Amino acid sequence: MKQNLQNATQIRLETEAATDRLARSVAKHMRAGDVVLLSGSLAAGKTTLVRHVATWLGSTDRISSPTYTLANFYQSPQAQIIHIDAYRLKNAAEFLDLALEEELERSIALIEWGECLADEFDNWIGIDIATLPESETGRLVTLSASGPEMITRVQGILGAYSEANA
Ligand SMILES: Nc1ncnc2c1ncn2[C@@H]1O[C@H](COP(=O)(O)OP(=O)(O)OP(=O)(O)O)[C@@H](O)[C@H]1O
Ligand SMILES: [Mg+2]
Repeated sequence: MKQNLQNATQIRLETEAATDRLARSVAKHMRAGDVVLLSGSLAAGKTTLVRHVATWLGSTDRISSPTYTLANFYQSPQAQIIHIDAYRLKNAAEFLDLALEEELERSIALIEWGECLADEFDNWIGIDIATLPESETGRLVTLSASGPEMITRVQGILGAYSEANA
């Protein structure tokens, strides 16, 4: 069940500093077992967002793109973070072959090119990042969610973000 919350879920980020503020709101609402599916074109800012979220979660690990490793693991005071890049996965079966189920249960998962895995999870938060033709650092972010709890979570993220910008 994908719920696109429309209108209210779109945020325009003018700079990477705004992306960092969104990351702070996302981090504030993450719990072990959460799955965030990140989408957006090459160099849209998926890894950048993960880096900022991990930092706000208190991780001091080096956050790098898991393009070749498929999955990176970082430690944070709140929970382990799994940073996955699904770009090279041919299909969902290849993801299941990674046998990450137990790890996912106790971790916060941030999955780049994750939209192809939407059917593999009952609950997820979707963050799509689109570049804007008129601005090098501007991005349009669309938040979506699957599952009632995640819809509430997205509303919390939006609330925290708008408060931080008030
Ligand atoms: N508002 C912004 N939010 C995020 N990144 C931004 C923003 N403005 C500029 N950037 C820059 O855009 C680049 C985004 O690169 P990044 O590796 O995060 O993209 P990506 O979506 O992970 O790409 P890939 O598809 O290759 O994994 C970085 O160099 C970052 O500094
Ligand atoms: Mg990336």
